[in-house]
Amino acid sequence: MDKYYITTAIDYVNGAPHIGHAYEKILTDVLARHYSLRCDDVYFLTGTDEHGIKIQKTAAEKGITPKELCDENAQKFKDAWKALDIDYNKFIRTTDDYHEKAVQHIFKKLVEQGDIYKHSYEGLYCSGCECFLNPKDLTEDGLCPTHLKKPEVVSEENYFFKLTKYKDAIIKHIKEHPDFIMPEFRANEVLNQLEDIQDISVSRAKSNVKWGIEVLDDTEQSIYVWIDALSNYITAIGYDDMSEDFKKYWPADVHVIGKDILKFHSIYWPAFLLALNLPLPKHIFAHGWITIDETKMSKSLGNVVSPTSVLENFNMENADAFRYYMAVSAPCGRDGNYSDDDFKEKVNAHLANSMGNLLNRTLSMLVKYFDGEVKPEFKHENPLGKKALGTVQIVKNHFDRFEISEAGTEIISLVDAANKYVQDTAPWTLAKEGKLNECGQVLTDVLDIMCIISSLIYPYCPNIAQNMARQLSFNLKTKLDDLTCNNVKVGKLIEKEDIKPVFLRLDSELADKSSKK
Ligand code: ME8
Ligand code: MG
Repeated sequence: MDKYYITTAIDYVNGAPHIGHAYEKILTDVLARHYSLRCDDVYFLTGTDEHGIKIQKTAAEKGITPKELCDENAQKFKDAWKALDIDYNKFIRTTDDYHEKAVQHIFKKLVEQGDIYKHSYEGLYCSGCECFLNPKDLTEDGLCPTHLKKPEVVSEENYFFKLTKYKDAIIKHIKEHPDFIMPEFRANEVLNQLEDIQDISVSRAKSNVKWGIEVLDDTEQSIYVWIDALSNYITAIGYDDMSEDFKKYWPADVHVIGKDILKFHSIYWPAFLLALNLPLPKHIFAHGWITIDETKMSKSLGNVVSPTSVLENFNMENADAFRYYMAVSAPCGRDGNYSDDDFKEKVNAHLANSMGNLLNRTLSMLVKYFDGEVKPEFKHENPLGKKALGTVQIVKNHFDRFEISEAGTEIISLVDAANKYVQDTAPWTLAKEGKLNECGQVLTDVLDIMCIISSLIYPYCPNIAQNMARQLSFNLKTKLDDLTCNNVKVGKLIEKEDIKPVFLRLDSELADKSSKK
């Protein structure tokens, strides 16, 4: 693997980030960090989607300019990702100058080669979706099925993109690349949608949508938000001037997106790319949606949870526990749920009781019985070795299928196996019986495995992993393929005062406070 280019959806800035946005950025960051242990050149792109009627309307309601709204909210997204340790390489804003110019050039090229044409049109537009809806997809009451709002009748002369021209090529691509749309169960849904696609409107009258990128040579038209937004994946890495980065990183290895915008990514985007004569991304990974206490989040219900409020309510030093919880909250591609109680219970059980305590107990025994020293005779064939290296392989396979929660389960199962090994061999009894060599072997076995665990948990919990690795004198930059069962060095490993718990249980008082908020 010589490079790994990964992207998130770019979020609309008509509000502040919520836990659903955070879920996606966490999944993507976990993927990016995992691949950084397999490849030297990972490039992670995220950003904000800042044009369109929805943002124009929100700004008008607030009595500020669209640009002011964008600046204010884009900053909130950046701040939230910082708090969550989302370690992206680049943050693109679709109002960035270079992006706007590149989109104008892309549009112009498509007009010149006949893929975009002008046409009068009447249709039903949902500003929530930022797209025209097919009348047959509306609810019985004529509402948008996603936003439950009545779409607007729009009658305009617009530019149209010849989507129908690319229909067969896209169907063929999906059928020939069963891992293009992930998880695979979503591919049929897309193939069904492809059956009755039409050419799509790709501009709006400037008189109706002022807040958008202008069509070059036609100041009456704004470029449709989805051409603008989707192009971010190539403009951010320098498509417009065919930069070295563009040549190196395109095609993307994966676009991580929510299931609601799969159509745009697996039909529209491939069509635009085919028209631009560019290769298609290797995978589109559509994750599910997050509910709060099993209820859909909505402004009207007032149950929108901000990711940073969770960190504050639980008074957390860093976002590791929240990242872990979100990343494992749903099987691949399925919907997940956030609840304060479940959060507290799961991270206490997995991160504190199982993983953190195991390291703490083992290091404490090493200090108690051997003054913190790993002796050469403690190294032997590790009974946990086969399971541990097998887990590394299984975790890699899961990641290759974007099964982040499933990979997490495997990691915790390795932790459980190591705990059981300690329980079964009872090193404290071995020490009492004077079987010091055996006792030292058991402790060393576990510490060697803890190094592997720190490496595997790193993508989810980078701070905890660093803390573990420090106490084990283990180099967290070790590539997964270079991991062995012989990771801790012989000699003095740690002093008593350097043993620190890696994760403190979220205590019930704090959790009570947060559930009363
Ligand atoms: O769709 N749970 O922006 P957006 C999980 N700008 N994911 C959720 C979610 C939830 N409750 N709510 C939203 C847009 N998301 C466009 C994207 S990409 C070229 C343009 C996810 O702010 C959603 O599925 O409405 C999407 O992937 C992302 O957050 C941004 O949603
Ligand atoms: Mg949305």
